[in-house]
Amino acid sequence: MELPDYIKARKRSKEKVEIENYEITDDLKEIGKGKKYFLKTYGCQMNEHDSENLKAMLEELSFVEVDDYKKADLVLLNTCSIRENAHNKAFGMLGRLKHIKEKENPNLIVGLCGCMAQEEGVVDHIINKYKWVNFVFGTHNMHRLPFILSDALKKNKQQIEVLSREGNIIEGIPVKRDNPYKAYVNIIYGCDKFCTYCIVPYTRGKQRSRNPKDIIREVEKLVSDGYKEVTLLGQNVNAYGKDFDYQYTMENLLEDVSKTGIERIFFMTSHPWDFTDGLIDVIAKCDNVMPYVHLPVQSGSSRILKLMGRRYTKESYIELFDKIRERIPNVCISTDIIVGFPGEEEEDFQDTLDLVEHCKYDNAFTFIYSPREKTPAAMLKDQVPEEVKEERLQRLNAVVNKYFLENNKKLVGKIVPVLVEGTSEKKNELFGYTNTNKLINFAGRDDLIGKIINVRVTEAKTWSLDGEVVE
Ligand code: 5AD
Ligand code: SF4
Repeated sequence: MELPDYIKARKRSKEKVEIENYEITDDLKEIGKGKKYFLKTYGCQMNEHDSENLKAMLEELSFVEVDDYKKADLVLLNTCSIRENAHNKAFGMLGRLKHIKEKENPNLIVGLCGCMAQEEGVVDHIINKYKWVNFVFGTHNMHRLPFILSDALKKNKQQIEVLSREGNIIEGIPVKRDNPYKAYVNIIYGCDKFCTYCIVPYTRGKQRSRNPKDIIREVEKLVSDGYKEVTLLGQNVNAYGKDFDYQYTMENLLEDVSKTGIERIFFMTSHPWDFTDGLIDVIAKCDNVMPYVHLPVQSGSSRILKLMGRRYTKESYIELFDKIRERIPNVCISTDIIVGFPGEEEEDFQDTLDLVEHCKYDNAFTFIYSPREKTPAAMLKDQVPEEVKEERLQRLNAVVNKYFLENNKKLVGKIVPVLVEGTSEKKNELFGYTNTNKLINFAGRDDLIGKIINVRVTEAKTWSLDGEVVE
């Protein structure tokens, strides 16, 4: 039984990243025959995309998906570690599954994977208190699902296989994409930044870039399958290529992906540290790279940024921000902000509000700092009281929301390109996303679904737009 180990997980060596190919044996292909699975995903786009792989692997084993966990023979939770509330949700779900297993379906198979499985404390807890969970595997060995599940079905014993290592790259894992028009494509795994509050470098391993050829091949296939849009994914996409022994960077990759002819390219997440002028030029130059940048700032206080280990100051962030605004026409910029980092005083928080007043973000994901076990920030003494964090979050949200609405209002009367995704909750309405990733609702025929069309913005709301089709 292999268990998570944080000392191994934080190791970073110069060893070459191994590339393995996904393979399963024929005898596994029927282990799910007649059985239904339910997969629950928590967390970020990386996890959502991993779940698209997990679903395809399960279906290769003949399992069939159901949308209600009460009807399933197998329930798999793909978990997230980033904040305490993600933990609480997964443990809450385990509580409901325990009840079903005890009262209704003793044969129910339950598995847990994803980031929580890479945490020492969580796996200890599962071994001691959740003996009825059938299997656990981590982020480095997701491709082993068929084998681990097969063992869990055969042997009447909890299966735990979590590797704590810097990580390799697995190519060829099948994928069942949730959306027929837009696709996630991984370009870089892991993170080496070790921001002091963040657990990702421990749960996802070292920064390792996928081979450009594999990425381009995947995008070319998506184009030929009729996909209109890709989002290039990584914890820190601008670090792409830094681990190669040849010169090939995010700028080169974006240009090469642009040449595949895919109609829209997004990418996330960008760390301000690695954002080069060359990258700004490529975004400005390539018509199919969308004018949208997600640029997490985390705090507007240079003192707190230093404690966070972010490697930039309020001033250098604003300089980069202004440069992106200036050089990329009609760009929209979104961000992530944490309030209540240890030692954050009212004055630091005011610096954050001040930065938001300057940047007037198009979108912002705001979070209360959540201590993650064994990260440097969690060990700092002056943790901010919960009620102060809550109060700051509310004040921050009031300001960011004001700018979402203000920016959206500036679009009223303008014509924007929209990828139409489907029918919205309101009857007879379609919805889609603009080239700057804004949700827009409008009346239209169903045959527009899957197309990129022009829509005139007629009304602005805080989190969405209304519009009408331009014939
Ligand atoms: N507490 C609160 N928010 C966090 N994030 C990362 N770690 C934590 C934490 N411990 C936020 C950051 C990051 C986003 C994905 O989650 O803002 O950019
Ligand atoms: Fe976490 Fe920082 Fe890496 Fe983002 S860049 S995943 S916040 S360590």
